[in-house]
Amino acid sequence: MENKHLANWRILIIASVITALFIAVLLMAAAIVNGRTQTTAVHADERVNVLANSTDDCVECHARNTPGIVEQYGHSTMAAADVGCRDCHEVSADYPGAIEHQGTHVLNQPTTAMCQDCHQAEVAQFNQSRHALPAYVAYAGAQDLPSELLMQYESIPEGSFNPDQMRNALFAKEGPEITKFACQACHDVGKPAADGSVGECSSCHLRHEFSREQVRRPETCNACHIGPDHPQWEIYQESAHGIAYATGGHNWHWEAETGTLDTTDFPAPTCATCHFAGFGTQSTTHDTGDRLSWYLFAPVSTRRPAWQDNVTRMQGVCGECHNPNFINTFYTDADAATEKINEWVIESDIILAAAKDEGLLTDEPFDETIDFTHFNLWHHWGRTAKFGVWMQGADYVQWHGAYEMLHERAELIEQVNEKRHEAGLEELEFNADYFEE
Ligand code: HEC
Ligand code: HEC
Ligand code: HEC
Ligand code: HEC
Ligand code: HEC
Ligand code: HEC
Ligand code: HEC
Ligand code: HEC
Repeated sequence: MENKHLANWRILIIASVITALFIAVLLMAAAIVNGRTQTTAVHADERVNVLANSTDDCVECHARNTPGIVEQYGHSTMAAADVGCRDCHEVSADYPGAIEHQGTHVLNQPTTAMCQDCHQAEVAQFNQSRHALPAYVAYAGAQDLPSELLMQYESIPEGSFNPDQMRNALFAKEGPEITKFACQACHDVGKPAADGSVGECSSCHLRHEFSREQVRRPETCNACHIGPDHPQWEIYQESAHGIAYATGGHNWHWEAETGTLDTTDFPAPTCATCHFAGFGTQSTTHDTGDRLSWYLFAPVSTRRPAWQDNVTRMQGVCGECHNPNFINTFYTDADAATEKINEWVIESDIILAAAKDEGLLTDEPFDETIDFTHFNLWHHWGRTAKFGVWMQGADYVQWHGAYEMLHERAELIEQVNEKRHEAGLEELEFNADYFEE
C-alpha cells in the first residue's frame, strides 16, 4: 500500500514536470513567432549588425579602430539600406573642411549638404525653421553672415523675429571660454558649416544609429529644452501626456513607420508627436514653427505670420485624441493666460522706465542687480509660465511662473524706488492708476 502511494506520487510529479516543460516550450515558440511577425516594433538592439561581415575597407579598419561606430551604424536602417560610410564622409580633395585620410578625403563632421543628397525635403524644412540660422544668430548676431546666408536667414518667414538683445550682451560678457560649453552647445544646432550648408542634424539624430525611437523620445529634446528659462522637458514630465509616457511608454510603437503614426502607435504624444511627427491628418515636418501661433519666447508675445494656419495644424494633432470642444476651450483659455503674462511683463517695463527715464540706470547691461531682476521676471518666470500653460505643467505656471513674477515685481519696485530715493526723487506707488496713464 505504502509503495503504491509513493508510485502514484512519482507519476504525478513526473506528469507535472512534463506538462510544465511542454508549456514552457509552447511559450518560447510563441515568443519567437511573435518576435518575427512584429518586425515594425523590433527594438534597435535586436536588429542584426549588417556590417558584421562587410569587406568595405572603411568598415574593416574602423571595426578595429573605432568598433563603437561600426557597431552602432551596423544596426541602423540606413546601413540596412546600403548607405555606406563614404556616402556621408567622403568628399573631394578641394571640399571645404576635407581631411586627407587613407587614400581619399573625408569630413570629420558630415554637414547637412551630405544628408541633402538623399533627404532633400527634411533639409529644406529644417532650413526654414528656427532650429537653423535663427538659433545661431541668437548668440552670434546676423552681422557677419555672408550675403547668401543672410538672404537665407531673411527668407525664413518667422526667422528674423529677434526682439531682445539682452542675451547677446550675456554672450559677450561671459566670453568664449564659457560660451563654447553654454550658448553654443545648444544654439549650434543651426550653425553654418565651412561648405555653406546650415545646421547639425546630429544634434537630434545621434550618430551613428540614426534611430527613430531615439529621436521620438522626449529625452532627445531635453539636451536643450530644459532649465529655468525654457523648461519644456520638466513641464512635459508633469503633464498628463508625460505621465502617460513615463508609465506606459514601454508599450508604444517607437519604431513605427514615419508619416503614418496614429493613436495605436502613440496613445499619448511626446514632443516629437506635437512638433514634428506625421500624425493622423498631419504630415511630418522639420519646420518646428509650422504648428505654433505665438512667439512665446519673446518678452511680450505676439502672433506669428499665418498663425491661424499653424493653429489648424497643431489642433489637427490634438484632434486625434481630444474632441474639438475640449481643444477650442483649451486654446481660448491658453490665449487669455498668454495675454495676462504679457500684461505683467509690460507693467514691469513701465516700472523699470521710472528709473531708466530719469537716467538712474547705467547703459551697461547686467552690471547691477536691477538688470537681473527685470531679466528674471520675463526671461525665466514669464516665459516659463507661458510654456507651462501651453504644455500643461501646473507647477511651472504657478510656483516657477506667476508666483515668481509677483515676487520679482515687488523686488523691482523696491529697487527702482531705492534709486529714486537716492536721487532725491519721489517714490512711486505703481498702483492701478499709475499703469492706466
Ligand atoms: C587602415 C585603417 C583605416 C581605414 C581604411 C579608414 N580609416 Fe578612418 N580612421 C582610422 C584611424 C586609425 C582614425 C583615427 C586617427 C586618424 O584620424 O587618422 C581614423 C579617423 C577617421 C575619421 C575622423 C577624422 C579626424 O581627423 O577626426 C573619419 C571621419 C574616418 N576615419 C572615416 C573613414 C572613412 C569614411 C573611411 C573609408 C573611406 C576610412 N575612415 C577608412 C583608420 C582607418
Ligand atoms: C548617415 C551619415 C553617416 C554615415 C553613413 C556614417 N557617419 Fe560617421 N559621422 C556622421 C556624423 C553626422 C558625424 C559627426 C557627429 C558629430 O560631430 O556630432 C560623424 C562622425 C564620425 C567620426 C568622427 C567622430 C568621432 O567621434 O570620432 C568617425 C570616425 C566616423 N564618423 C566614422 C564613420 C564610419 C567608419 C562609418 C561607416 C561605418 C560612418 N562614420 C558612417 C555621419 C555618418
Ligand atoms: C546616400 C543616401 C543617404 C545619405 C547621404 C543620408 N541618408 Fe539618411 N537615409 C537614407 C535612406 C535610403 C534611408 C531609409 C532607410 C529605411 O528606412 O529603410 C534613410 C533614413 C534616415 C533616417 C530615418 C531612420 C529610420 O530608422 O527611419 C534618418 C534619421 C536619416 N536617414 C538621417 C540622415 C542624416 C542626418 C544624414 C546626413 C548626416 C543622412 N541621413 C544621410 C539615405 C541616406
Ligand atoms: C540649454 C540650452 C541653451 C543654452 C545653454 C542657451 N540657450 Fe538660448 N535658447 C535655447 C532654447 C531651447 C530656446 C528656445 C526657447 C523657445 O523657443 O521657447 C532658446 C532661445 C533663445 C533666444 C530667443 C530666440 C531668438 O532667436 O531670439 C535667444 C536670443 C537665445 N536663446 C540666446 C542665447 C544666448 C545668448 C545664450 C548664452 C548666453 C543662450 N541662449 C544659451 C536653448 C539654450
Ligand atoms: C530638433 C530635432 C531634429 C533635428 C535637428 C533634425 N531632426 Fe530629423 N527628425 C526629428 C524627429 C523628431 C523625427 C521623427 C518624426 C516622427 O516621429 O515621425 C525626425 C525624422 C527624420 C527622418 C525620417 C523621416 C521620414 O519621413 O522617413 C529623416 C530622414 C530625418 N529626420 C532627417 C533629418 C536631417 C537630414 C536633419 C538635418 C537637416 C534632421 N533630420 C534634423 C527631429 C530632428
Ligand atoms: C541641440 C539643442 C536642441 C535640441 C536637441 C532640440 N532643440 Fe528645439 N530649439 C533649440 C533652440 C536653440 C531653439 C531656439 C531657436 C531660436 O529661436 O533662436 C529651439 C526652438 C524650438 C522650437 C520653437 C521653434 C520656433 O519656431 O520658435 C520648438 C517647437 C522646438 N525647438 C522643438 C524641439 C523638439 C520637439 C526637440 C526634440 C525632438 C528639439 N526641439 C530639440 C535647440 C534644440
Ligand atoms: C500635446 C502637444 C505638445 C507636446 C507633447 C509638447 N508640446 Fe511644445 N507646444 C505645444 C503647443 C500647443 C505650444 C504653443 C503653440 C502656440 O504658440 O500656438 C507649444 C510650444 C512649444 C515651444 C515654444 C515655442 C515658442 O514660441 O517659444 C517649444 C520650444 C516647445 N513647445 C517644445 C517642446 C518640447 C521640447 C516638448 C517635449 C519636452 C514639447 N514641446 C511637448 C504642444 C506640445
Ligand atoms: C495621442 C493622443 C493625444 C494627443 C495627440 C493629445 N493628447 Fe492631450 N491627452 C491625451 C491623454 C491620453 C491624456 C490623459 C487623459 C486625460 O486626462 O484625458 C491627455 C490629457 C490632456 C490634458 C489634460 C486634461 C486633464 O483633465 O487634466 C490637456 C489639457 C490636453 N491633453 C491637451 C492637449 C492638446 C492641447 C493637444 C494638442 C496640442 C493634445 N492634448 C494632444 C492624449 C493626447
